[in-house]
Amino acid sequence: MVTILVGGQWGDEGKGKIVSYLCLNDRYDVTARAGVGPNAGHTVEYKGKKYGLRLTPSGFLTPGTRLLIGAGVLVDPQVILKEIRELDVGDRIGIDRRCGIIEEEHIRRDRGSSHLKEKIGSTGTGCGPANMDRANRSLRLAGDVPELKPYMADVPKELNSAIEAGKKVLVEGSQGFGLSLYYGTYPYVTSKDTNAAQACVDVGIGPRDVKEVIVVFKSYPSRVGEGPFPTELSPAEAEKQGIVEYGTVTGRRRRTGTFDFDMAREAAMINSASQIALTCVDYIDKTSRGAKRYEDLTERARRFVDRVEKEVGVPVTLISTGPDLSETIDLREEKL
Ligand code: GTP
Ligand code: IMP
Ligand code: MG
Repeated sequence: MVTILVGGQWGDEGKGKIVSYLCLNDRYDVTARAGVGPNAGHTVEYKGKKYGLRLTPSGFLTPGTRLLIGAGVLVDPQVILKEIRELDVGDRIGIDRRCGIIEEEHIRRDRGSSHLKEKIGSTGTGCGPANMDRANRSLRLAGDVPELKPYMADVPKELNSAIEAGKKVLVEGSQGFGLSLYYGTYPYVTSKDTNAAQACVDVGIGPRDVKEVIVVFKSYPSRVGEGPFPTELSPAEAEKQGIVEYGTVTGRRRRTGTFDFDMAREAAMINSASQIALTCVDYIDKTSRGAKRYEDLTERARRFVDRVEKEVGVPVTLISTGPDLSETIDLREEKL
């Protein structure tokens, strides 16, 4: 049984938190990372500890869960080897031998290009130039890197056997709908598609195996880097609302805005969303912070959640009211 989780805005919707929550709560056997590469920064907060992950699947907190990185994901060996060491996940991580490798040269090209760094506002992590080399068929693959040898895996084979054996598989995307190379705010996008169908391709499974598609939306969406943001708030308005966020990877201040219902409907359609996870509901109303039951939300927060469900036309099954995994309202039993 496969669940795919993707972002519905411009990334940083809180996918890392929701994936970790689902994995711990539902005991997934396997989590597989899809998406672009180490331009992502997933934050996971659990029991007073805060983790910032760039390549490791966010299911790492669940003991025994197999952690896979699909062939569509770019790997920076230095980044993944550091995470493997620090999180002590060497015995359960598997990297597909066909993952593209980010070299120093890609990072230099990313940071040295005024088009990428200044006009687009790239994360400077080398992903764009590495994907250019992949399309040019001149990129080195993970199977050619001796340091990664202990972790080599055939991700599609593992996933398809797990599916056949009836195991639970969670595929996590990175970035978000608005950063898709095809459907996002081109040219202010990342170097690849970021939607659920692409996530299947990234890890090597077919669409018929997917049972649920969860799209994560943030109550006040954010955007780092350049590009249009129709519902953007001024920095002063955002501060008044108590929303000041900085990027996990770049440390840049995130632009923030109010919920864009048109964009959310389009994201839900293109991803064939079956569920919505709505994060940062505590930004709507500070007194809702940490609520664990729907009834504990303020009326204002409940009205907002109900409006998202109604206007987007997809059930809101998970509500996040704070960064910690415990700060979650899980409505799946009632709504599905
Ligand atoms: P990318 O993969 O880079 O797109 O990131 P992501 O979707 O995993 O999100 P990221 O962790 O970069 O950003 C979300 C931020 O919001 C993190 O700092 C989280 O700890 C925090 N967060 C997640 N859920 C909530 C919530 O419900 N309320 C509040 N206040 N913060 C939250
Ligand atoms: P690149 O993917 O580094 O080339 O960056 C292209 C655009 O996507 C820039 O606007 C980045 O800020 C944005 N971006 C890439 N990855 C993320 C992410 O994980 N979260 C938020 N924005 C991202
Ligand atoms: Mg992030």
